[in-house]
Amino acid sequence: MKIAVIGGGSSYTPELIEGIILRADQFKVDEIVLVDIEAGKEKLEIVGALAKRMIQKSGLPIKVELTFNRIKAITNADFVLTQFRVGGLDARANDERIPLKYDVIGQETVGPGGFAKAIRTIPVILDICDEIEQYSKDAWLINFTNPAGMVTEAVHKYTNVKVIGLCNVPVNMKQMAANILEVDRDDLNISFSGLNHLVYATKVFVGGKDKMNTLIERIAEGRNMNMRNIHDAPWDKEFLQALQALPCPYHRYYYMMDEMLIEEKEAAELRGTRAEQVKVIEKALFKTYSNPNLDVKPKELEERGGALYSEAAISLITSIVTNDHAIHTVNVPNNGTIPNLPDDVVIEVSCVVNSEGPQPIQVGTLPSEINGLIQQVKAFEQLTIEAAVTGDKGKALLALTTNPFVPSSKVAKLLLQDLLETNQDYLPQFHK
Ligand code: G6P
Repeated sequence: MKIAVIGGGSSYTPELIEGIILRADQFKVDEIVLVDIEAGKEKLEIVGALAKRMIQKSGLPIKVELTFNRIKAITNADFVLTQFRVGGLDARANDERIPLKYDVIGQETVGPGGFAKAIRTIPVILDICDEIEQYSKDAWLINFTNPAGMVTEAVHKYTNVKVIGLCNVPVNMKQMAANILEVDRDDLNISFSGLNHLVYATKVFVGGKDKMNTLIERIAEGRNMNMRNIHDAPWDKEFLQALQALPCPYHRYYYMMDEMLIEEKEAAELRGTRAEQVKVIEKALFKTYSNPNLDVKPKELEERGGALYSEAAISLITSIVTNDHAIHTVNVPNNGTIPNLPDDVVIEVSCVVNSEGPQPIQVGTLPSEINGLIQQVKAFEQLTIEAAVTGDKGKALLALTTNPFVPSSKVAKLLLQDLLETNQDYLPQFHK
């Protein structure tokens, strides 16, 4: 069993290594290859050394290799995990700051920021997929790279690689719901459907009893249903009761856009955008990782938004390897699961996972109040993917104009110009 991790120098890697160690009794890994680009040499070496110490401490016979050679990493891999960030945190900070100039939400994965990240990332993932098709055509690609829904959809539409898009939001929502209801996570049945970072929990059951209203009441009373990276604006009780579903933490940017924008602008001025804050956290994290006596995942990693990432990734791989038919919420082609959406778009949905991969659990027609937003955001995503692949500026303009955060085609045009100029080193498709 060989696992290749692209973006292996990421600060999240110890999370992944811990997951592999904790699941060692369920499936046996022989080799982990961490691959990164030369510019990330220092990070790869620090995090790679920590990964080796963690494995050594576990006593497991797993070989950890570090390389800059992507083809070598991919060759004969059983699983390829992608967790890279084109342009690093500087590019993310631009994605977050540029929209604010136009009074538009600036966020890493949604809105114009997510658009910019997608057009930088999609050409790179397609190159990686070319290599997977050549050097490990049966491998599963587990994509954690953001914006995970759009990146996964691009892979599905333009390559033959077996891909599953993964996000830690559903597993965190499930954990938080279990905490709020004071039950064990495994005793909670929760159904998810929607899009990545726009997913709804539509059913919540414990021991056959519907717990949706109890949960809504407790969330409206202020119980935590959020991630570390998102401002904790409180949910309105009447709204949630009318919706009869739990929005994900990212829904705040859509349903409380005014409040979130004010907070983002204040934060950008006083504390820096999230990427700027993350840079500070990362600096401290890598200092901690460099300690030659450290051989466990440090607590400080919890400051980041990626909680339970390894849980999501490694339990998913376990289900594929062991054919355990467990339920995971992942990003997969729609294929009729939500009849309101085209077959070839990627949705985030609860699936039964076996050795053939994820089998989506039928959702049925979405109600108008959810369908409206999903349709609009999916149209934005489809246009963004097309623009990312073709470099067509008209499609890019339509993508941004279609996004719910963007108030007019005029603002969309200004934003596009700014984003294309700022990111030009990463966008050869637009500067042919
Ligand atoms: C959440 C999201 C991830 C995102 C992360 C950012 O966990 O689900 O998609 O990458 O937050 O966290 P950060 O600490 O980098 O702001």
